[in-house]
Amino acid sequence: MLFKQQAWLRQKLLVLGSLAVGSLLYLVARVGSLDRLQPICPIEGRFGARSQAEFPLRALQFKRGLLHEFRKGNTSKDQVRLHDLVQQLPKAIIIGVRKGGTRALLEMLNLHPAVVKASQEIHFFDNDENYAKGIEWYRKKMPFSYPQQITIEKSPAYFITEEVPERIYKMNSSIKLLIIVREPTTRAISDYTQVLEGKERKNKTYYKFEKLAIDPNTCEVNTKYKAVRTSIYTKHLERWLKYFPIEQFHIVDGDRLITEPLPELQLVEKFLNLPPRISQYNLYFNATRGFYCLRFNIIFNKCLAGSKGRIHPEVDPSVITKLRKFFHPFNQKFYQITGRTLNWP
Ligand code: A3P
Repeated sequence: MLFKQQAWLRQKLLVLGSLAVGSLLYLVARVGSLDRLQPICPIEGRFGARSQAEFPLRALQFKRGLLHEFRKGNTSKDQVRLHDLVQQLPKAIIIGVRKGGTRALLEMLNLHPAVVKASQEIHFFDNDENYAKGIEWYRKKMPFSYPQQITIEKSPAYFITEEVPERIYKMNSSIKLLIIVREPTTRAISDYTQVLEGKERKNKTYYKFEKLAIDPNTCEVNTKYKAVRTSIYTKHLERWLKYFPIEQFHIVDGDRLITEPLPELQLVEKFLNLPPRISQYNLYFNATRGFYCLRFNIIFNKCLAGSKGRIHPEVDPSVITKLRKFFHPFNQKFYQITGRTLNWP
């Protein structure tokens, strides 16, 4: 009998102890995130000026808390509606460039309390089948957010797909467009590395980068090779400029986002008329990954998936030189059009 009572007491103490530790951890995490979130400045500009009262702190707590619960399916749609959550069309889109650092940019911007990211690439504007489903289909793919927050999606294929600028223009002619670029030859090799990895996974053989990037008949750069074409940024941008003025674009330096993300993110905050809320606290260098990772608060942090930051194969230096020479005039034009000089070789 005495033994039974002792066991019961031990069990109770264990439960109480776990509850106390759990509550403590919760409080610490909460204080960590609240610290970072207060005070909230109004979001101005194209998204409309708002008073502080209209951007409640609870919106921010919701972002990390209730929204997460909702995604897990713990909260009914009705409950969410009670709290004014809506699925909004994006006010800004990361349109490209593939392998420029689009995922890192989206995830890092999502650290901002006023930003809500669409986790998946939606491919609405570049995929005819999706586009035919209509704008409501697209909106329903968006995450829940407060009306004062802005939704951002990324689909890097948008940048290079012919029909996309007109389609986005029809949805919202004043949308903000983010383009993250890397030194064109590095980007092309990164693009190749991704395809190569896919082939290897399927046990398929693939050509060497040199063979694809250089035309064996002319020994010139092979402009038919997609990884090369995608890196001619100015050609693609010119198509976009038929629909949108240059002021609606912001160029992010993808190479700098790798080594020094904060100043790049601060430029984006400015472009989006968001109060500066992303700080060095939110970004820490992870030596094992060799990249910056994200810190939400003292408990929650994350690095990007292993598919980001692959080791590139070695490429013949003469091919690299040839490619850099080839891209040079296009780069100059790109700097001139965008007003952002990136000092690529
Ligand atoms: P590599 O795999 O060539 O290194 P995207 O998301 O557009 O596919 O871009 C992928 C690239 O993002 C990676 O290319 C990587 O260099 C870059 N990147 C930038 N910041 C990163 C980060 N913090 N963690 C991982 N990869 C990052």
